[in-house]
Amino acid sequence: VLGEKDAVEAAPCPRAASRAHSLDAIPGPTNWPLVGSLFQLLRKGGLTRQHEALVDYHKKFGKIFRLKLGSFESVHIGAPCLLEALYRKEGNYPQRLEIKPWTAYRDLRDEAYGLLILEGKDWQRVRSAFQHKLMKPTEVVKLDRKINQVLVDFVGRIGKMNVGGKIEDLYFELNKWSFETICLVLYDKRFGLLQEKVNEEAMNFITAVKTMMSTFGIMIVTPVELHKSLNTKTWQDHTAAWDRIFSTAKVYIDKKLKRNAVRAPDDLIGDILHHSCLSKKELYAAITELQIGGVETTANSMLWAIFNLSRNPGAQRKLLEEIREVVAPEQDPCGEHMKSMPYLKACLKESMRISPSVPFTSRTLDKDTVLGDYAVPKGTVLMINSHALGCNEEYFDDGKQFKPERWLRENGTINPFAHVPFGIGKRMCIGRRLAELQLQLALCWLVRDYEIVATDNEPLDVIHSGLLVPNRELPVAFIKR
Ligand code: HEM
Repeated sequence: VLGEKDAVEAAPCPRAASRAHSLDAIPGPTNWPLVGSLFQLLRKGGLTRQHEALVDYHKKFGKIFRLKLGSFESVHIGAPCLLEALYRKEGNYPQRLEIKPWTAYRDLRDEAYGLLILEGKDWQRVRSAFQHKLMKPTEVVKLDRKINQVLVDFVGRIGKMNVGGKIEDLYFELNKWSFETICLVLYDKRFGLLQEKVNEEAMNFITAVKTMMSTFGIMIVTPVELHKSLNTKTWQDHTAAWDRIFSTAKVYIDKKLKRNAVRAPDDLIGDILHHSCLSKKELYAAITELQIGGVETTANSMLWAIFNLSRNPGAQRKLLEEIREVVAPEQDPCGEHMKSMPYLKACLKESMRISPSVPFTSRTLDKDTVLGDYAVPKGTVLMINSHALGCNEEYFDDGKQFKPERWLRENGTINPFAHVPFGIGKRMCIGRRLAELQLQLALCWLVRDYEIVATDNEPLDVIHSGLLVPNRELPVAFIKR
């Protein structure tokens, strides 16, 4: 048994490679045979509280620590200097942890992999087919009309559903909003999820995505091969859900491919479909994964932005002033307006710092890499903890407070590697620009029409369920202005 290493404050990075210590010297909680630190984690509240446990470990062990849970071992980094060191040494094909249930399904049905699970040169080839259109702000801004089309319906629905300011199951409504938007962008199709009577096809599609997401977690911590050979209910549900997702997505991608050469300027995906050298099979997988990557993440970030504004009426007032200054009352907010709205952007950044949706991402090192004091060998899984970074007082003064102003200070001192809600480097979120524009426009529409008020001031418990979610209905109300 490796004994509990002393809590250490790592020396400032970077350090010369020749003086770096080995992996074994990285501090961490007691590592028991077979189980590693699983019981300590369970005592700290289990997997749904893992984000809090990891923050505690960073406080105790410093910028870097090592954690073994069962047979799964990882090294956690939570300091800007270490993220920067990793970024500077990044190779051409950064790798994330494999999502085995997804690769198992693709192999079973002979479907391709998309960006979430591809590796190596194949990942780079697919990524470059989408990179230009999705990551270039001047391209993404062209999507404002489509985003607004869905927002008009969303704001209308908030009006209709509003009972004394309350919206029943706001998170589900936000998921429908982001689902509808991404489908319009990807397939040029409205699914009608924000209408009173939702059509069956749309509901089947959204339920299939939900089932697929809720069945893969268990097959990450228990071997997927076992589920497959025993044909467990989890495996059956998972494959049936993917079958439905792929069959629906294929129909709409095929329809788009059949449409002729004349395309609207905001048909980004149409351009990619027609100009890329990807096979049809690769397109099916890539587009389907864009859809999966873009729905709950965006809805969740919007949920937290609404919550943070409800608890900070001063910031909300300032935001409303900025919106009224930039967007005339009879105008729809558009991508161009966003250029003159620094406070809006600061509110979103601050919300994603204080309440990140994706608490951490991962990298599997493809070469030996010196990170701060340690030489970390090839093959090591690194966890990059953006949640721990965001709540660390060393990087954010008065870090518990929602202060959008911190992002607007001249000669700002915030280290860019301390705020990584979309990940880092070549493998960072490819939907980032689209998500940002969607969130900016959505806040504009919502705050212009509604005052978002807190209905209680009790602390809100946050649990980890893939993303960080509140453990109760959001205590907010929407009061028509
Ligand atoms: C990857 C967060 C919206 C598609 C990621 C990663 C994070 C993330 C943390 C991992 C990056 C890394 O490992 O460095 C978010 C958040 C979003 C959001 C917080 C919303 C606020 C979207 C949208 C799409 C999308 C709208 C689709 C259009 C993807 C894909 C990847 C990814 C395909 C894998 C990229 C690759 O490995 O090349 N996202 N995301 N995401 N995201 Fe997002």
